[in-house]
Amino acid sequence: MRILITGNMGYVGPVLARHLRANIPGSVLVAYDSGFFGHCLTTASVLPEMLYELQYFGDIREVPTTVIAGADAVVHLAAVSNDPIGNKFEAVTEEINQKASLRLAEISHKAGVKSFVFASSCSIYGYAEGGARKETDPTNPLTAYARSKIGTENALKAMDLGGMTVTSLRFATACGMSERLRLDLVLNDFVACAVTSGEITVLSDGTPWRPLIDVEDMSRAIAWAVRRPAANGGAFLAVNVGRDEWNYQVKDLAEAVAYAVPGTKVSINKAARPDQRSYKVDFSLFKKLAPSHIPQLSLEQSIARLCDGLTAMGFADKDFRNSSYIRLKILEQHIAAGRLGSDLRWVGQH
Ligand SMILES: NC(=O)c1ccc[n+]([C@@H]2O[C@H](COP(=O)([O-])OP(=O)(O)OC[C@H]3O[C@@H](n4cnc5c(N)ncnc54)[C@H](O)[C@@H]3O)[C@@H](O)[C@H]2O)c1
Repeated sequence: MRILITGNMGYVGPVLARHLRANIPGSVLVAYDSGFFGHCLTTASVLPEMLYELQYFGDIREVPTTVIAGADAVVHLAAVSNDPIGNKFEAVTEEINQKASLRLAEISHKAGVKSFVFASSCSIYGYAEGGARKETDPTNPLTAYARSKIGTENALKAMDLGGMTVTSLRFATACGMSERLRLDLVLNDFVACAVTSGEITVLSDGTPWRPLIDVEDMSRAIAWAVRRPAANGGAFLAVNVGRDEWNYQVKDLAEAVAYAVPGTKVSINKAARPDQRSYKVDFSLFKKLAPSHIPQLSLEQSIARLCDGLTAMGFADKDFRNSSYIRLKILEQHIAAGRLGSDLRWVGQH
């Protein structure tokens, strides 16, 4: 099976490459990325991209059809991948996350791809009071990032993509260790706080609900989706990916990290304005469709892996919230140095 992975040089990609190599033996892995974060290796002693047969560099907005030729499946990760970046680059977020994704789906279909996997997000539920959100419940995207994900999903659903199975994986918030670690994710941030300063400063009042999933379990779901037959869920499927037990309130996450790293204090800003984003998610459809690919890791395991990874790196930067472990900071550094334009295109290369 030949699998094209876009956006492979980010946080999820390195873990996914290892997972696909181990779990889909004989697969040919081809990758395409703009390389924004290529230099941000944290724990690897070997370049994660060595696991691919072929690595292309380029912008997803102009991906050539030759990159897709011969692929059986496309796993589309390339994106402006969080709210702070989306807020700063709103129009570009729509261009990259939505317009380019739809073009990619179209040319993948024309190239005879059988399975198209789109990395969507539970953030499309935005603020949801009451019970856990099911796929059939209304969405409430509050940011440019979330709007781009649901916009793409809706358009993919409406497109006639013939025999190409489309799976939109609405991932819970990612966490866990990766060769390209990010610390702009709630659990990763808390573990980095605990390891570097012994104090977790929660930026909200701690009450928002946030379902989580480890990057390894995201990879498990992707490995299922690339081989999903249309008979299991339909030719187009949008499914919440996570586990019911992993619906946490932010303050519970802070307490779990403090428990795992003895001596850690938790300070919750009770005066903070309530976070607008709060949602519980129902993952029963995923469990029904993919019983052998549901998340396996426990919260304690994810925290332990992060602690071990940060310790192995000798990580001690108390000011990491302003460091290059934050995706937006890296893009800003590229732009300030004149390497990248504000349209998020490399200067002088295209
Ligand atoms: N991390 C999460 O919490 C989470 C949760 C739900 C969904 N997702 C989705 O999963 C996917 C992967 O997430 P991640 O955390 O690895 O993101 P990431 O930001 O770490 O990596 C994204 C990758 O896409 C590439 N990319 C961005 N714009 C591009 C462009 N114009 N052309 C080519 N490549 C481009 C970047 O260089 C980067 O390597 C994203 O689509 C994200 O929205 C992530």
